[in-house]
Amino acid sequence: MSAPAAVALRAGAPVLHGDAARAVAAVRLKPLADALPDGLTARMMDLDDSRALADFRVRVVAMLDDPDHYRMAGEVGNFVADHLGELGLTAGIFRGDRLVAYGALGLPGADDPNRGRDLDLPEEELSSVAHMSSAMVDPSERGRGLHHRLIDWRIEVAEALGRRHLLTTVSPRNHRSWGHLAGHGIYPKRLIRVGGDLVRLLVHRDFTADPVFDPSSAGLVAVEELSGRWDVFEGGHVWGRIAAGDGAAQTWFALCGRSKAVRGR
Ligand SMILES: CC(C)(COP(=O)(O)OP(=O)(O)OC[C@H]1O[C@@H](n2cnc3c(N)ncnc32)[C@H](O)[C@@H]1OP(=O)(O)O)[C@@H](O)C(=O)NCCC(=O)NCCS
Repeated sequence: MSAPAAVALRAGAPVLHGDAARAVAAVRLKPLADALPDGLTARMMDLDDSRALADFRVRVVAMLDDPDHYRMAGEVGNFVADHLGELGLTAGIFRGDRLVAYGALGLPGADDPNRGRDLDLPEEELSSVAHMSSAMVDPSERGRGLHHRLIDWRIEVAEALGRRHLLTTVSPRNHRSWGHLAGHGIYPKRLIRVGGDLVRLLVHRDFTADPVFDPSSAGLVAVEELSGRWDVFEGGHVWGRIAAGDGAAQTWFALCGRSKAVRGR
């Protein structure tokens, strides 16, 4: 994946909600819909899709390679109602009328749980947080770029809505998920505990700053060990994932290190 695309956040851009936010998101979904592989369509989902979204999520979670990759216990609020209603935006990708993928962006209001607090963002910046809440793809449609497209769409929508900070939590073992996000400039910045005892990577991108990796500080940590390596985040963070070996012998590492500078925008 290429380096993060330059995203210019307009100073003073209004923070939109509700129908206005939905309209902005729908416009940005059209290019994604137009470029999908044959037989797939995309549209914004709404509360009438609640059952379809809930059933799809349960089905995908039941088929995870590793149950730690996604635990609904780590979610806050009512995921489906929130992300199809006032507190979020969800794009669905369909084969015929069957939901095969979704990407959800959370738009917390002033009194809602906000991952910005886990990053110690200043109180006045919490209104410009969007959550990359979750994306899931049906196993039969994986490896076709649907996740990468849904990440791009949510980045564009968050920026267009004046939400400067993108945040979410991901299982350290779910390296495909956090590796994809890191490929779009949303890097694991901390380890935190959520939903009781789950250890999660807190991933973050600030549209107003471009961190630059300091190669002299590079280190590799096996992804299986990452959840115990709180020290990695004392002076730096995770920049991406790296594979060693092929086929069944393939193993994955997190590329860790410091930032040598932050390019402002
Ligand atoms: C994680 C998950 C969302 C990935 O979905 P996916 O649609 O298979 O992911 P993509 O197809 O975008 O990317 C997978 C590979 O396809 C390849 N690919 C094929 N066509 C592509 C295209 N047009 N554009 C980009 N990548 C493409 C890429 O090489 C990519 O490789 P990479 O992993 O080295 O980047 C999916 O495995 C899933 O639903 N897992 C269970 C739920 C989960 O863990 N969700 C994430 C946490 S919320």
